[in-house]
Amino acid sequence: MTTTTSGTSHETPAPWWKEAVFYQIYPRSFADGDGDGVGDLAGIIERVPYIASLGVDAIWLSPVFTSPMHDFGYDVADYCDIDPVFGTLADMDRLIACCHEHGLRITLDWVPNHTSLLHEWFVESRSSRDSPKRDWYVWRDPGPDGGPPNNWRAEFGDMPTWTFDETTGQYYLHVFLPEQPDLNWHHPDVEAAMHDTLRFWLDRGVDGFRADVVHLIGKDPALADLPDGPGKALTTIDEPATHRMLRGIRTVLDSYEHEPMMVGEVCLFRPGQAASYLGDGSPDGEGDELHLAFDFRATYARWEAERFGRTIDAIQRDAVEYDSWPTWALSNHDLPRHRERYGSGDRARAAAVMLLTQRATPYLYAGEELGLPDAVIPPEAVVDPGGRDGCRAPIPWAVDAPHGWGEPTWLPFVDDAGSHAPDGEIGSSMTDLYRRLLQLRRTRPVLRLGDQQQIETDGTVVAWSRTFGGDELRIAVNFGSEPVPIALDGRIVEGSHRNDVAFDGVLQPDEAVIVGS
Ligand code: NOJ
Repeated sequence: MTTTTSGTSHETPAPWWKEAVFYQIYPRSFADGDGDGVGDLAGIIERVPYIASLGVDAIWLSPVFTSPMHDFGYDVADYCDIDPVFGTLADMDRLIACCHEHGLRITLDWVPNHTSLLHEWFVESRSSRDSPKRDWYVWRDPGPDGGPPNNWRAEFGDMPTWTFDETTGQYYLHVFLPEQPDLNWHHPDVEAAMHDTLRFWLDRGVDGFRADVVHLIGKDPALADLPDGPGKALTTIDEPATHRMLRGIRTVLDSYEHEPMMVGEVCLFRPGQAASYLGDGSPDGEGDELHLAFDFRATYARWEAERFGRTIDAIQRDAVEYDSWPTWALSNHDLPRHRERYGSGDRARAAAVMLLTQRATPYLYAGEELGLPDAVIPPEAVVDPGGRDGCRAPIPWAVDAPHGWGEPTWLPFVDDAGSHAPDGEIGSSMTDLYRRLLQLRRTRPVLRLGDQQQIETDGTVVAWSRTFGGDELRIAVNFGSEPVPIALDGRIVEGSHRNDVAFDGVLQPDEAVIVGS
């Protein structure tokens, strides 16, 4: 199994987002500035020096906009204001400035597919069939049997994507919760209003956006039944009109000189489907739709050589085939953390080496650098409709309880939280590893931009090389529980468990090494 990747032009500097490492902050869980047990902007500002000290380049901040929090901010009631639980617009301006002072870019989570049902646009839309904003959302008459207009099933709960509105006698569409009505992007005023929300933040200096389920914004007006029977709309809607809408969004971004970018959450999994949302044909050859699209394949892979060997190879092959720049992530706010999924701190260390040596833009999820597992959430403490509380536990900043937070915290801490604090036993050694890897990625362009080629291996080891100019590094990960001999000559430049020593030719269980000179 050998794959050569190329396609990187070394003649012109790469755009910043190709070379960046992003750090995702889930604001409720990150840091508590005002002592109310819920994370906020003041808490993030206090921790910006820590974030910068890790050696990441940019932040992705999950939503902080005004929201009734049915989906903890992914139900936006005002795109141009900050929810009081997080602070104020002035706090956000301070955060943007503080990031920039520390050499960090900041990207916001933009939720274009749906609003909160409390957004004034929806309040107006549902007020009457004659409302001037009626068509800003997706309203339909009941189906022939008086039930929902089609067979789409919502993402949360066992329910249709439709809720009946008694007052006006029609159903409205919501791919997620009933509290998250879908906008109708086919209405030009919606498109224009949403462009304005981007401009609002770009004018305040943000460096781009993560666009929530952005592949959903265009919908076939027929809203036909899914042909194979009731099913999830989220992973099937792939409407051509969305590409025109994304080009409109890109035009807004490109009108700013500070090169703002957009990474899209595109939950479509056939080969090349997500890459098609990057577009093509723009004069700079970087695509004319999204700059990046998340690749979720690594988050689905079990800790097995066969699975990761295939995943690493497939992501690089697709990058060549679809002429796209990949992203890599192992965790985010929607999934059990990878430390939890893989089941050991050693594996999480090896995973860090794997993640930060890919030819891709990596996304870290805050807390992974502290080796955080998921919290155990007792039934009475569950708050999320999607069962994702465990990975959203508060980050322990101090060894001693309450770990830098006011009490009670909105979710419980992980077990043995103090040891995961930056000064705790596990936290300090994991952050040290992340810092060293991020530093290596900064100082060796080969890790950011170099070509990537799989190295033939046996058994439980997966290995690949990175080459750039005259520089070469070889990376090997042992996914197994036995030591494995592997012929890689050189020094361990960095590794999950040892560094700056000659490689002795044997990879220990759950160990990863970067070998070179
Ligand atoms: C994807 C987000 O990542 C998730 O957290 C959210 O619940 C849904 N989109 C709905 O906005």
